Amino acid sequence: MEKIVLASGNAKKLAEMQRLLEPLNIEVVAQSEFSVPEADETGTTFVENAIIKARNASKYTGLPAIADDSGIEVEALNGAPGVFSARFSGVGATDAKNNALLVEMLADAPDVSRNARYVAVIVLMRHEDDATPLICQGTWDGEIVLEPHGDQGFGYDPHFFVREKNCTAAQLPPEEKNALSHRGKAMAQLIQALQ
Ligand code: IMP
Repeated sequence: MEKIVLASGNAKKLAEMQRLLEPLNIEVVAQSEFSVPEADETGTTFVENAIIKARNASKYTGLPAIADDSGIEVEALNGAPGVFSARFSGVGATDAKNNALLVEMLADAPDVSRNARYVAVIVLMRHEDDATPLICQGTWDGEIVLEPHGDQGFGYDPHFFVREKNCTAAQLPPEEKNALSHRGKAMAQLIQALQ
């Protein structure tokens, strides 16, 4: 079985990767098992940040590494919060604070377009100096609603309205979200490439 390290401390992401890659004879291990220090996400693009994290994990483990980076881009905010989605409301950011700030910024201008899209990038680096990393990208179009709906998912999901389902991402069961989502699409590309 080939071993790949996952550059994330998120237990849910680890379990999901393990479930999807096990049939391909790939064992996914968490970077925490190797005491990999966190990398600074200094990139201005999702691709750069994913590469920074994967390269860091590969450097400290000597193994191939997978990393992901994701966020939400809102048209009326010129693509913000983008790569800053997790830390949109600053130090001590939480999902609730990020959502409150997003609603505040959009509520002040009632005529703006609330079109938005989620973006996910998953990168696989075969080694630290890999100059041609595998880059998988998925997007998911929707729009921001000012009132939250639903209690599933995480992050901006209660405010992310999915037109084709006529509900928010937080109102979709996990399987339905995975089938449509930015992350689901990027994962499907990764699996296809590894096959
Ligand atoms: P990270 O890629 O784990 O750093 O996540 C980036 C941030 O983007 C998260 O903290 C969320 O705020 C947001 N985000 C990314 N994907 C989703 C999603 O599927 N639902 C809701 N929020 C998301």
